[in-house]
Amino acid sequence: MKYKIYKDNNPIMRKRSLPVEMPLSKEDRDTLDFMLNYLIKSQDEEYAQKHNVRAGVGIAAIQIGILKRMFAIYYQKGEDEIVQYQLVNPKIIETSIKKCALENGEGCLSVDEEHPGLVHRYYKIKLAAFDALTNKDVIITATGFDAVVLQHEYDHLDGKFFYDHINTNNPTQVLPNEEII
Ligand code: NI
Repeated sequence: MKYKIYKDNNPIMRKRSLPVEMPLSKEDRDTLDFMLNYLIKSQDEEYAQKHNVRAGVGIAAIQIGILKRMFAIYYQKGEDEIVQYQLVNPKIIETSIKKCALENGEGCLSVDEEHPGLVHRYYKIKLAAFDALTNKDVIITATGFDAVVLQHEYDHLDGKFFYDHINTNNPTQVLPNEEII
């Protein structure tokens, strides 16, 4: 494999990633392709076991040591929908008052330890970006799990981890206006 997955003890993971120059270079496209393929392969049980990788639904460039504002997402939703993006220079342009948190907390390819607790997120967001997969500027409106994944990856671009959103004094406390999903 060309890249290794950087872990949260690496100080580079706390850095703010830099804007990606447009139009997208071949190199950046290749990086995004690698990232998307990594996610797809990580969800193949046989492959994951053989190569000792964990299944991931999202990965940011910084997680392979590239300090650029881009991330890939890939997961199956329901029976026949696949959510997949290669987002470049994303911006969260709207957030809801309503919050949400995944019942079983969050995980991350860069975090090996367990961090139990509710990760408080916006329930609904609007995100603007260039999607290299479709070659279009997109505005994504996402709720619930979809919104959580986008926020988790977006956080990496600003050097944040999911556990930064856990209230360590009361990790299971549900916020007012928060839905546990
Ligand atoms: Ni992560």
